[in-house]
Amino acid sequence: MSSKNPRTLSEAIQQRRATPSFDGSPIPAADLKQILQAGLHAPSGYNMQPWRFIVVQSPEQRKRLRTASYNQPKVEEASAMIVACGDADGFRTGDLEEMLRLGRENGMPENYAEQAKNNIPHYLSTHPNMVMWLNRQVMIAFTHMMLMAEVMGYDTAPMEGFEQEKVREVLRLPLSYHVVALLAVGRLAGPDKFDGGRFEMHRTVFGEEYGKPLKV
Ligand SMILES: Cc1cc2nc3c(=O)[nH]c(=O)nc-3n(C[C@H](O)[C@H](O)[C@H](O)COP(=O)(O)O)c2cc1C
Repeated sequence: MSSKNPRTLSEAIQQRRATPSFDGSPIPAADLKQILQAGLHAPSGYNMQPWRFIVVQSPEQRKRLRTASYNQPKVEEASAMIVACGDADGFRTGDLEEMLRLGRENGMPENYAEQAKNNIPHYLSTHPNMVMWLNRQVMIAFTHMMLMAEVMGYDTAPMEGFEQEKVREVLRLPLSYHVVALLAVGRLAGPDKFDGGRFEMHRTVFGEEYGKPLKV
């Protein structure tokens, strides 16, 4: 959808398309910040906020990122590329302390804080699938940003077509970082993508248990 006007969340959800190409126009820093802030406001397990976002705007970096993304032209055409990552080591390197500091400042009960200090490192250091845990958290922040951009009148494209190791190299990511997805933000150029439609509810939603229809 190429609307350049703000729209409601319902409109954004209905009208959003995975934008096929962008016009390359710059995005004001204040708008970019508003989009990023929406991501940072997302919920996460234990409020651990393991997401990390690398914003790529320079033509040189976008060119390199494009080569790491199966040469998808959108990477160079978008106003900004937000590379959404998760840090598997965040809880060991200061995030836990910062989460507790902020929490205490904002009314976290002391007995909760004390328990969290012990439980969270145990939970995360023994987690059977840290990449899955990171994906779960980061995609919520990613979706917050995508919808905020759409509500503001921008066009977006979520992207999983990239090579993990190549993106890591281009962005010089620490070893503990896992790249989750790329979000292109900008203005549509040319015709928008067709609306592929969505499955009927009875196909994907059940009531009470698998296979039973939900009565709505
Ligand atoms: C996580 C994710 C990754 C995607 N990766 C790509 C991608 O790398 N390249 C692309 O052209 N489209 C990509 N898409 C867009 C999907 O193909 C698109 O969302 C889907 O066909 C539904 O179309 P719509 O978003 O316009 O409703 C991705 C979508 C999601 C949600």
